[in-house]
Amino acid sequence: MSQRSCLSIILAAGEGTRMKSAVPKVLHTIAGLPMVAHVVKAAEAAGSSELALVIGHGADEMRKAALKFAPKAEAFVQEKRLGTAHAVLAARAAISKGYDDILVMFGDTPLIDPEALAAARLKLAERAAVVVVGFRAENPSGYGRLIEKAGKLVAIREEKDCSDEEKKITFCNGGLMAVAGRHALKLLDQVGSKNAKGEYYLTDIVEIAAAQGLDVVATEASFENALGINNRAELAQAEGIWQQRRRREAMLSGVTLIAPETVFFSHDTEIGADTVVEPNVWFGPGVKIATGAKIHAFSHIEGATIASNCDVGPFARLRPGADLRTKAKVGNFCEVKQAIVEEGAKVNHLTYIGDARIGAGANIGAGTITCNYDGYSKFFTDIGEGAFIGSNSSLVAPVSIGKGGYIASGSVITESVPDDALAFGRARQRTLPGKGKELRERFSQAAAARKKG
Ligand code: UD1
Ligand code: MG
Repeated sequence: MSQRSCLSIILAAGEGTRMKSAVPKVLHTIAGLPMVAHVVKAAEAAGSSELALVIGHGADEMRKAALKFAPKAEAFVQEKRLGTAHAVLAARAAISKGYDDILVMFGDTPLIDPEALAAARLKLAERAAVVVVGFRAENPSGYGRLIEKAGKLVAIREEKDCSDEEKKITFCNGGLMAVAGRHALKLLDQVGSKNAKGEYYLTDIVEIAAAQGLDVVATEASFENALGINNRAELAQAEGIWQQRRRREAMLSGVTLIAPETVFFSHDTEIGADTVVEPNVWFGPGVKIATGAKIHAFSHIEGATIASNCDVGPFARLRPGADLRTKAKVGNFCEVKQAIVEEGAKVNHLTYIGDARIGAGANIGAGTITCNYDGYSKFFTDIGEGAFIGSNSSLVAPVSIGKGGYIASGSVITESVPDDALAFGRARQRTLPGKGKELRERFSQAAAARKKG
């Protein structure tokens, strides 16, 4: 099939008012990726080489966003929203270039399965003119019904145009359609708008093609393929289904999820086998984890690279640019940003490491802070291999601690420390024998005198 050329047309001219949002509906995200980008990914996975995006509301914003997730897509503006067939024809110029297969998808139906698309393309390869991807609906209301005669698909009737008898049909149009390129324009140009909504329905090409004796086929896919998003409750439903699929995929590829329903992946999370993820972990975009890592409960991780056998959390926050090398440890209530933690280094408790390198095997004591920001610029802290940073130290960047350097607890380090040196950056302690008792007596007498007076 790969030698067949394929154009995917994604309809994304929805108004999206029910999202109650300044953002166009199809740019709302699932697993951190705009829902329309999920559709683009599915189209590409099904072997589509060209992409046409039909946009309306928020056209400029859409164009800008599309540059990121579909840089090669051609955008077409549907000025007036006159129906799905009218929307497809907005991409007339693309269709006219001539393709074997044309796929039509909705930008607000993000869970479509590339396999459902590939199955529809296969039917085109077997000479079908139109393929409709249907699904069995528990509650079919609102969907177009697939009307079959003698086992053959002859029409799609929109809910508003259905007879009472037709309304009982539960085999519905999922919204996904495949059309043979050689027939597409001729069929689309015959669509009229004589129906309850007065719209140009894409679904009408089924009846038109069937009447002309062309081969029209319905395939069946699961309900998710048809799940259209119209409000934020449906957005959350789609997110839930997406996460469930991803968790299963992770577990089947060798990742242990102790409480899978509490772990949230991003669209691009990479996670190696034998990694164990404890409950309540969030992965933002750009996370790569090699094998055998332990991610303890309640950790929040984004833009981070975690090498094999690292130990992270509980309650760790890894921000973009956190780069943990083999067997590094970042423990509870630690935040790491734009910093390399080299092999076997430990940042175990209550620490902020930002704009830094921590050498192999170094130990960072509890409460250490790299003071990387003066309110205007960011500065770098370099900590050498095997260094020991005593608890509650502030390292005021730019500063470096040499290999094997030793920082006394509670230090404020403003000058670089050479290899193997010991640095104190705190007031020297004075201990006055008996003075504690004397002080207590003085204070208690003063308090008694105040009470009397
Ligand atoms: C459509 C189908 C219906 C199917 C259902 C599945 C038609 C006529 N009906 O109905 O058979 O069961 O989807 O969810 O196709 N759009 C445009 N421009 C327009 C009109 C629509 O871009 O002028 C886009 C919308 O943004 C949306 C998609 O096309 O992404 C579908 O339109 P919508 O109005 O939601 O159609 P439904 O009534 O849901
Ligand atoms: Mg819809």
